Amino acid sequence: MSNYGVMVIGPGWVAGEHIKGYCKDPRTEIRAIVGMVPEDRARAEQYMKQFNFKADYYDCLDAALKRDDIQLVSVCTINFLHYEQTVACLQAGKHVMVEKPLCFTQQQNRHLRDLARQTGLQTQVGHVCRFYPAIVGLKNFIDAGHIGEVFYVEADYWHEIKGAWKGKKSTGGSALLMGGCHAVDLVRWMAGETNEIVEVSAMSAPARWRSDFEYDPTIVLTARFANGTIGKCATSLECNMPYVFHLQVNGSKGTIRNNGIYSETLFPGSRDFVKLSSTYPDDWNVGHHPFPEEITAFVDSIDRGAESMLSIPNTYKTYELIFAAEKSAETHEPIKLPL
Ligand SMILES: NC(=O)c1ccc[n+]([C@@H]2O[C@H](COP(=O)([O-])OP(=O)(O)OC[C@H]3O[C@@H](n4cnc5c(N)ncnc54)[C@H](O)[C@@H]3O)[C@@H](O)[C@H]2O)c1
Repeated sequence: MSNYGVMVIGPGWVAGEHIKGYCKDPRTEIRAIVGMVPEDRARAEQYMKQFNFKADYYDCLDAALKRDDIQLVSVCTINFLHYEQTVACLQAGKHVMVEKPLCFTQQQNRHLRDLARQTGLQTQVGHVCRFYPAIVGLKNFIDAGHIGEVFYVEADYWHEIKGAWKGKKSTGGSALLMGGCHAVDLVRWMAGETNEIVEVSAMSAPARWRSDFEYDPTIVLTARFANGTIGKCATSLECNMPYVFHLQVNGSKGTIRNNGIYSETLFPGSRDFVKLSSTYPDDWNVGHHPFPEEITAFVDSIDRGAESMLSIPNTYKTYELIFAAEKSAETHEPIKLPL
């Protein structure tokens, strides 16, 4: 008998990876799938067949949330539904794993942080990049002091994104919410999350060659941390190139560049970056992303009764930075944080 009953909302593309994760974890059993559109029933059945489990199908979230044999929920619907569905799940007493982006506004961000704290339920936001073996290894090297004191961090999300709902403001949100949030999250993680961001400036540009974006698909932000470290994050959803997730962390004793590390203490005498051969976020396909590791981390947090590093209260600062950057791009003024 599994410890936890699971509900998955929105059986689309990414849900398949969450389902894979829960099916691999002996502590969890998927008992319900909730669809939002008529095609979801067939997709849910397809996943049950593919991963060999049986769950009840619902087309009404409120009805599914009444089940008391379900303790945790994965919100895998498209962006604009995350906020309201996460609120509904927390109010129904369920632990919540919500896909990125967490929400669309700073007001929603604050509300979710407060609600998560009030309920005491465990939460996690889908910043899956933190679970790539190469990223985990590089972060361990930083924490062990192998590049010394970090003074500059840069992460860029270059991904030509296509899809009807993705370029619309009402359903996709913005370039940072749609994809750049992965890079923003890593800038914060690599610089050290206890290191507060005190100021951000950003510029954005409207689409140059595609006509399906309702928001500026290209944006660049610079951020100043309280200890003087500076960060940069660029995102373009209309860049005409194969997918690239770029990372750079400069320290007093070495540097990280993508999946390579140059470190005087770790590899004395080395004249080049030493490349980690473990998986790095260099493929946009979700089948390549470490979702099972992400799901394990979420279930671990419930088991231990301890917040995930990506809990909603911990991820609040990533979204605060995003909303501040968007405000800066709009007003052409630097924005002081906290908001
Ligand atoms: N963590 C990651 O790396 C990663 C990767 C891909 C997607 N995502 C996120 O996962 C979420 C789902 O993405 P996806 O590619 O699986 O999406 P998808 O297009 O496959 O749709 C997912 C689900 O959303 C619901 N849906 C779609 N359009 C709807 C509409 N107009 N109204 C109501 N419901 C609708 C449906 O229930 C569908 O099953 C998105 O928020 C996306 O940003 C995250």
